[in-house]
Amino acid sequence: MTKEEQQIAHNYLPEQYRQTGAHAINHNYLRAQFSDYQEIFQKIEALVLEGDFTLGKSVDEFEARIRELTGSRFAVGVGSGTDALLLSLKAAGVGKGDEVITTPFTFFATIGAIVTAGARPVFVDICEDYNIDPNRIEKAIATNTKAILPVHWSGLPCEMDQILAVADRHGLSVIEDSCHAILAEYNSKPAGTFGLSGCFSMHPLKNLNVWGDGGYLVTDSEEMHNQLVLLRNHGLLNRDECAVFSYNSRLDSLQAIVANHLLEKIHYITESRIARAARFDELLRDIPQITIPPRPRHVRQVYHIYVVRAERRNELQVYLVERGIDAKVHYPIPMHLQPAASGYGYRRGDFPVCEAVCDSVLSLPVHEFIAFEQIEHVASKIREFYAAG
Ligand SMILES: Cc1ncc(COP(=O)(O)O)c(C=O)c1O
Repeated sequence: MTKEEQQIAHNYLPEQYRQTGAHAINHNYLRAQFSDYQEIFQKIEALVLEGDFTLGKSVDEFEARIRELTGSRFAVGVGSGTDALLLSLKAAGVGKGDEVITTPFTFFATIGAIVTAGARPVFVDICEDYNIDPNRIEKAIATNTKAILPVHWSGLPCEMDQILAVADRHGLSVIEDSCHAILAEYNSKPAGTFGLSGCFSMHPLKNLNVWGDGGYLVTDSEEMHNQLVLLRNHGLLNRDECAVFSYNSRLDSLQAIVANHLLEKIHYITESRIARAARFDELLRDIPQITIPPRPRHVRQVYHIYVVRAERRNELQVYLVERGIDAKVHYPIPMHLQPAASGYGYRRGDFPVCEAVCDSVLSLPVHEFIAFEQIEHVASKIREFYAAG
C-alpha cells in the first residue's frame, strides 16, 4: 500500500471514531462534548436505582420531546437509525418482491434496510446538491414499486414537494431517511415530517448523538405508529399475546437519558454547525478548484457533514491530513457499484452525477467545537495546496 492509500484507508477503519490526537482539527469531538458526563451519570444512577431499564420514563420523555421538536403527532424510539428505516418499511407493508426507489449516494444502512425488509433497491441518480434527482424518479417506477426513500444527505432536505407529488400520482409511500437531518427544514417544515415516516439516527457522530446506538422515527399516522410500537417490541400486544412476530429494537432507556440531556443543546449544536458552514462557504467560494453545492433558500441545511467537491481530491485529502486536518470522504464508492449490489445488474456509468460526486467530494470538520480560526486555517491550507500547483 502506498502512503496515500494508507492515509485514505485510515478513513474507513473504526479508529476514525477514536480520539487519537493524530489530527489537530478532528471530525471527532466526543470527549469535549461529554465533558459534563458526571451530570449524565447522576441521571443514570437514578435509572439504576429504579430499575426502569426498558421503555421506561426516559424513553417516554424522549418521545415527548421529539414530538415537540418536530410537531409530529407520534415519535417512536428504536435501537438505531437503520432499525427506524427497516421498521418503517415493514410497517408500510414493504416486503418480498417489492421495489423501493432511492439514491445511490448514501450510507450503506439505507440500502441495507431495504434489502433486509426483503425488497429490491432501485437507484435514481442525484443532483449537484447530492440528493436524489426528483425529475428522474417517475421513470424508475415499475409495477412492483412500493415506496420512495429519499435521503436528506448531509442535512440538506430533498425536494419534497416534487417527491410527494410523484408518490401521490402513483400511490407510493414515502419514507424519509432523515438520519443527517435533525432540525433541517424544507419550506419551514421539519425534514422527516413529509412522508409516512421520518427516520433518525443518534449514532455517536450524528448531530444528536448518544453513547452507542439509538434512533427514532416520527409519523403523523396513527396506524403507522401503532404498527411501529408493536414491531419494535416483539409484536407484543401485552405480556402474553403477540400480534405479529417481530424482534426487539427498543430505544435503550440509558441512551434516552443521554439523548434527553443533549436535546437541551440541540438548537445550539445546529446553529453552530450552520454558522461554521457559512464561514467555510465564504472562505472557499472563490477557490476555482472547489465547488460548493447549491445553497437553496427554501431549505434549512443542518450540516451533519460539510461537503464540497474538490479537484485532485485524493491529493488534497492527504495534504490536509498530513497537516493535522481530518478531511474525510463520505463516500468514495456509490451504492450501485458496491460488491453487495452486484446482483442488481448496475454498472459504472449508470449514474454519472453520483459517480462524479463520489470521485470528488471531501468532508471538512464543522461541529461546534471547531473554532472559526481553525476554519480559517483549514481554508488557508486548501488555498496553499492549489497555489503550490
Ligand atoms: C444516511 C444514513 N442512513 C442511515 C444511517 C443508519 O443509522 P444508524 O447508524 O443509527 O443505524 C446512517 C448512519 O449512520 C446514515 O448516515
